[in-house]
Amino acid sequence: MGDYNFMHILVTGGAGYIGSHVIKQLLEYTNYDITIIDNLSTGYQRTIDTLKQIASSSSNGTLQFYHADLADFKGIEKIFLSNHFDAVIHFAASIVVPESVENPLKYYMNNTVNTTNLIHLCNQYNVGKFLFSSTAAVYGEPSETPVKETTPTNPINPYGMSKLMSERILQDASEVNPNFSFVILRYFNVAGADIKNRIGQSFPNATHLIKVSAQTVIGQREKLSIFGDDYDTYDGTCIRDYIHIEDLASAHISALHYLEANHVNNIFNCGYGHGFSVREVVETMKDVSETDFTIEVVPRRAGDPALLIADNMKIKNTLNWEPKFDNLKLICTTALNWEKEMILHEI
Ligand code: UD1
Repeated sequence: MGDYNFMHILVTGGAGYIGSHVIKQLLEYTNYDITIIDNLSTGYQRTIDTLKQIASSSSNGTLQFYHADLADFKGIEKIFLSNHFDAVIHFAASIVVPESVENPLKYYMNNTVNTTNLIHLCNQYNVGKFLFSSTAAVYGEPSETPVKETTPTNPINPYGMSKLMSERILQDASEVNPNFSFVILRYFNVAGADIKNRIGQSFPNATHLIKVSAQTVIGQREKLSIFGDDYDTYDGTCIRDYIHIEDLASAHISALHYLEANHVNNIFNCGYGHGFSVREVVETMKDVSETDFTIEVVPRRAGDPALLIADNMKIKNTLNWEPKFDNLKLICTTALNWEKEMILHEI
């Protein structure tokens, strides 16, 4: 059912890490006009500026930016009134798990409430397609490995729950509006940076293992802490499915084309289907950087499952998505290149 031809796409959180890489690929590989909404709380104006440069050199679609907060319902509605969007890609969210435990209402407000309003505006202004950023955190301690989309969800922190509630709201909204459909992408551990090193993960206080390791290589951190080496895994440290940001971005392009061509709802895991332990990641970072930084083993971090690996057969078979950067060395190298770039240009 090719019932849609996208022209104009709204991207919330487009100045952030994942959003900016998806927009970069949209500008490079599609003709869509793009509007970004971002409050620049964890995204950056300079990322928008880089995306504008990419837009002007690609001669495909246009790019416009609103510095706005999704919590400003009236302000967001004005943006819907002065534009017609064909689809929304919704990235804007708070994503730090320990913070969500300390401040759950921030997560339910910023993630669930603001998402609900965005869905409401889509329904009010006839925006029929919604691509939603979700997370492997909806599975909690998964009951099976690799994790399938049908594996029971059971979030163990407010971050995961705030995303799962948004998933449910999307489902309920689409039940009563035949003109509204969605795709949910559940991300596993996203890492790395733009292959051309123009954008990357810029937020300085990020907690992600690969970013923290890269910061240790360049001396921004004294040492790297391994959160527990007494897990029931082959070397005692946690295992995760690390997916390169470029492959995650291309999954969004595939999902958009799928939404364009089909009036169905669907959920896909985004990962490679295999994992690496914390120690393997740290050793790979040492290897590619030719740097021997200090590591220390500290007690477990609360809420870390031992093993988290995606079953990715569904996205491969349904969206014909094929990863191109399934290579831990490349993931570490691109992450490190971006850290160096930020130092060099005082980003
Ligand atoms: C979690 C969330 C994910 C979220 C991400 C960022 C889950 C299941 N996943 O991923 O949805 O987007 O946080 O907030 O909740 N580690 C160290 N030392 C460090 C940093 C990490 O040993 O300095 C270990 C962690 O204990 C973990 C692994 O490295 O075992 C990966 O951690 P991280 O990169 O923070 O991602 P997750 O916690 O897996």
